[in-house]
Amino acid sequence: MADARVGNGPEAATGPAGSGPTGSGTAGERPLEERLAEAGLRLEVDGAVATVTLNRPERRNAMTFATWRGLAAIGRSLPDGVRVVVLRGAGPSFSAGIDLSMFSGDGGEGFADGSDAEATDRFIAELQEGYTWLRRPDIVTVAAVHGHAIGGGFQLALACDIRVAADDVKFCMKEPALGLVPDLTGTKPLVEIVGIGRALELCLTARTVLAEEAARLGIAEIVVPRDGLDAAVDGLVASLLAVNPGAAVATKRLLWEAAENTLEQQCAAERREQIGRLRDLFGK
Ligand code: CAA
Repeated sequence: MADARVGNGPEAATGPAGSGPTGSGTAGERPLEERLAEAGLRLEVDGAVATVTLNRPERRNAMTFATWRGLAAIGRSLPDGVRVVVLRGAGPSFSAGIDLSMFSGDGGEGFADGSDAEATDRFIAELQEGYTWLRRPDIVTVAAVHGHAIGGGFQLALACDIRVAADDVKFCMKEPALGLVPDLTGTKPLVEIVGIGRALELCLTARTVLAEEAARLGIAEIVVPRDGLDAAVDGLVASLLAVNPGAAVATKRLLWEAAENTLEQQCAAERREQIGRLRDLFGK
């Protein structure tokens, strides 16, 4: 979010996570599950797979500050054995982005004038934590996107490693049209995926990208008919879990480093990771 203050409304009560996915948290804290439900989120962990559902379908999964804090809490509380995290939206859309009631302050916690730049900087950084953990090398994150993915919803999909989209998907970076910038970690992956020219065109026109173009631009790695989305995600998850866990972690780390590294640095990183794999596979 661009310009916000920490409020005292119910959303501010969404504190750090407990010890497990449904952990009871520290003394005096309500269970994580309960706090997530209040934030419009649901977390289900089934062995190595965690599913995070944006769960305010009656508001098209519009996101509040509590949603972003809840996402950060999920990142902090994932059990060790989780290898794949799937993000999906309940109802007709993945997410309609920021809850517009926050602009009027109706959501309990609203906007300020940004006069305290340091406090606002800290506040936005806290919300961005809801997105940054999705890049962690120990998990692979999959966005299952259908219907609208607008603003903060589009950025959430971009924060994931892989996007599987239904053919009814509608991506839109709406922030500039509302006088804001995209500030939930989306600008970097967008530029990396589509290039600076296309990213400028998409953001500064706030136009909608449909499924066919999303596939062509690489915004969605996989596009399937709407009624095939769940099966496609299940198939992808099964394939991801079939790979050696240590190799998956090392390879994700390596691939994310590639864009920043010189060829020489990347060659060294490959050697380092392979030594780790060889030790793991053949060491005595
Ligand atoms: N905030 C709050 N409520 C929202 C909402 C939002 N972003 N999006 C939808 N809703 C509510 C609607 O007000 C409506 O409520 P009622 O039933 O009480 O009238 C309900 O959800 C269903 O919405 P629609 O009837 O409009 O559903 P639709 O399927 O016809 O259209 C939509 C869906 C295209 C997403 C449309 O609702 C829409 O354009 N929403 C606004 C999207 C928007 O501008 N989001 C801001 C993005 S910018 C951002 O995210 C900034 C950031 O910094 C992260």
